Parts: sequence; structure tokens; C-alpha cells
Amino acid sequence: MLLTEKSTAEKFILSSETNTSPNQRLLPITATINDKNHLVIGGCDVSELVTQFGSPLYILDEETLRTSASQYRDGFKEFYAGESQVIYASKAWSCMAIVSILASEGIGFDVVSGGELYTTTKALEMSGFTTEQISNKIYLHGNNKSVTELELAIDSECKIIVDNWLELETLARLTAEKQKSVNILIRLTPGIECHTHDYIRTGSIDSKFGFDANQLEGVFAFVKEKSFINCIGLHAHIGSQIFELQPHNDLAGVLADWFKKALDYGLPLTELNVGGGLGIRYTESDDPPSITDWVKTVAQAVTKACEERNLALPKLIAEPGRSMVATACVTAYTVGGRKVIPDMRTYVSVDGGMSDNPRPITYQSLYQVVIANKMRSENAETVTIAGKHCESGDILIKNIEIPDTQPGDTLVVLATGAYNYSMASNYNRIGRPAAVLVNQGEANLIIRRETYDDLVRQDLLPSRLTVNN
Ligand code: LLP
Repeated sequence: MLLTEKSTAEKFILSSETNTSPNQRLLPITATINDKNHLVIGGCDVSELVTQFGSPLYILDEETLRTSASQYRDGFKEFYAGESQVIYASKAWSCMAIVSILASEGIGFDVVSGGELYTTTKALEMSGFTTEQISNKIYLHGNNKSVTELELAIDSECKIIVDNWLELETLARLTAEKQKSVNILIRLTPGIECHTHDYIRTGSIDSKFGFDANQLEGVFAFVKEKSFINCIGLHAHIGSQIFELQPHNDLAGVLADWFKKALDYGLPLTELNVGGGLGIRYTESDDPPSITDWVKTVAQAVTKACEERNLALPKLIAEPGRSMVATACVTAYTVGGRKVIPDMRTYVSVDGGMSDNPRPITYQSLYQVVIANKMRSENAETVTIAGKHCESGDILIKNIEIPDTQPGDTLVVLATGAYNYSMASNYNRIGRPAAVLVNQGEANLIIRRETYDDLVRQDLLPSRLTVNN
């Protein structure tokens, strides 16, 4: 290779430099290459992180995460004249450090289970937020919330996004029993199609989430009668990993129509939640809009829809998950063995796979990789990156060009911050990896690697099964 020629990994870094929106970049914004030709993130040499913390390792770049958060927050301040609140869809990755960082950026939280509510509350308490600051910014979602989860939400005074009749009736009963009121938003199914994987499309009519149009007036009439239920807003979400802006534009009109109807019913609505869904760049060919363009589209569409219907601007809530956290994180693996099938395929195995990243096997998701200790090496072969699980489908990436690799090299899969740790499993009794937060040369462990003892912690062995009984 001529000295002036750039390797593919260098080109990823260079092309990323022109994109200031984290969701449009392949690598975290602090990614550079040091004089050892190693990948550096947050001022830390990725191969050295693996030596220190082991692999697989999730490496989360604080600066990228804060940049996404501030672009969302500041975008709404710039393009929306009313009040706004960005809430992070915790399902993308809920852990104490992420909650703490985002809260310090003024972000609130969409939680979908008692576990996410507990994690968020605990992290905020430990970060020094007051009870009122905490409850104000948490919204509980879910299409089948348990009574325990609803009670937890009522007691902690967070807001509840109500999904269906059973939930509404249960809430009416619980709040009356407790003589305690609750603030709710009604989730509706907007009937808007978008181009994404079927499993992550939620806004079309055939969806398990939310009330259908023909149920809504009954819902409005019901909540109006319940003195402990304050219906303060409406919610809709159309899907995830969306590259088009038009569906978000259309959603504003649908929501504003129902907002007006609810006001006409006498419900004192003040909040409009447009969901999340902005896509990110997983591979070079992905071309999502920037965070700022998305925010601008949503803000302008809601403003226009409200003006057309003579509505005062509601508090606008957006709940991004993937685009907040995905490209802030990479997963570093250690390269293991290879299997060459002549004229067919070369498999290169790594020490993780579908248990730390179930997205390829679940959604056929595509990813990009770099070799962290060979950042200036040119691509030399086409390989298939295989995970270590006992399943033929455990393939992280099919047919990708990479430099020559040897066992022990550090292979890094990009953009693994969203829906990777949060969907990780212990398949094959493999412990979940550790996660480190990197910033300006400092690396802090934020999630411990699961040990063998962790794997058996929940197991119980009835004494009658032991040899001496
Ligand atoms: N709000 C609601 C009500 C949602 O259902 C979701 C995602 C979000 C917000 C956040 O959407 P985002 O900004 O992340 O696109 N496991 C799948 C993604 C499932 C998304 C579920 N809902 C994946 O790995 O692609």
C-alpha cells in the first residue's frame, strides 16, 4: 500500500469527521488512530482496554452520548417555541451510568418495565436528584403492565402511558383504592406505515400496542369520569430504525386531530409525545437523517398541525433510544480460530456472538467492523465473522472484507450501543460482557463481566437431588 493511501478503517474515521450528528457516524466521535496503528476511543487504546478488562467488551464513549443528548435537547429548544422534553427510551440500554449521564444533560426517561423503572430511579437517587425531579421525568410504557408495575408507578408518581382497556380499568381501581391520583398519557395506534423490519414496526393498524381509533372516544369519556386519573396527553410511536422523515411529519397531523378531540371532550391535555424511531448508520450504505433534521421536522410538523387546528402548543415529548446511544458504543472481541472452506467461505471466530449481540440472528441486521490493532492495514480477504455459540446461525457478519487477522487480534463491531446489552442473554451459559465508559483517557467499568458464580446465582438445588440424601 502506498503511504498516501488510506485503509478502509482510516476512511471510516475520516468520513465520520464530516458528520457531526452521532447517528450518522460509523464510529464514536472521539475515534482516532494512535502511532501504534491502534484504534483509540475516548482517549483509550481499544486493544489495551481489552488487555485490561477482557473481551468481549462494550466500550461506551461518553462524549458521543452527551453529544446526541445535547443535539436532541438543543434542537427542540431551537425549533419548537413551546416547552419540550426529550426522554430516553431506556429499552435501548438501561444501566446506571447511562441514566446518570443523560439525566445530567436534562434528558428524561421512557421505561417499559418495573426493572427499568427501578434502575432509573436508583441511578437518579444515587446521582443526587430529588424525588420530585425523578418522578417528573419518568414515563412508564408497556402493553401488559403488571399490577405490581402499575402500583410502583403510582407510588413513585411517574407518568404512565396507558396502552389498553385492562390497564385503564386497573388504574382506575388502584388509584381509587389508594386515594392517589396519577398522570397518564393515552397511547394510540396512528395507522402510519414506515419502512423498517416488521418486528420493530409499531405504528401500523396491525400492532399489539395502543388504542385503535375506534376505541379512543370511549377512552376519553371513561377517563373524564375518573377523578384520580389526570389525562395529560397523547402518545404514538411508529417504529424504529426509520430513515424517512415523512412518517414523522404525518404523525403530527394524526396526533393533533386526536388532541383536539380530547380537548373538546374536556380533557385538559398539555403533552404530546411523538415517540422515537430515528435510524442510525450501521454500515456505509445507511444514510439516516441527522438528529437535528429529525428534531426540526418533528418540531415544525407539530407546530404546523397545532396552528392549523388553533391549538396552543403542547409540551412536546420525544423518546429516542437507538439514535441516542448506538454509535456511542462498540464491542471489542478477540479473534480466535478460522475455518477455510475452499472456494466457499472463510469463517473467522470471535469470543462472543449472539449472546452479546442478538440483532443479526433476530433481524438480519448488518454491521461494520474494524481490527483495532491494525487500523492502517488494507483489507486483504473476505470472511464471515462467526460467534462462539453452538448454533450455525450465530454469525455476526457475513462476507465482510477485513485485513489479515491472527488469533489474538482485536476485532471491533461498530454501533453496538442500542439493543445489544439490553437484549443480551446467557445462551450457552456465557456470561454477559463487561462495559467500560471511556472519556479523555480514563476508562471506568460501568457493568461488571458476569462470572461463573453469577451464572448459577439464581439456581437452586433441592436437597433430595444430592447424593447424600
Ligand atoms: N418509544 C416506544 C414506544 C418504542 O416502542 C420504542 C422502541 C422507542 C420509543 C425507541 O425507538 P428508537 O428511537 O430506539 O428507534 N430491538 C429492536 C428495536 C425495538 C424497538 C422497540 N421500540 C432492535 O434491536 O432493532
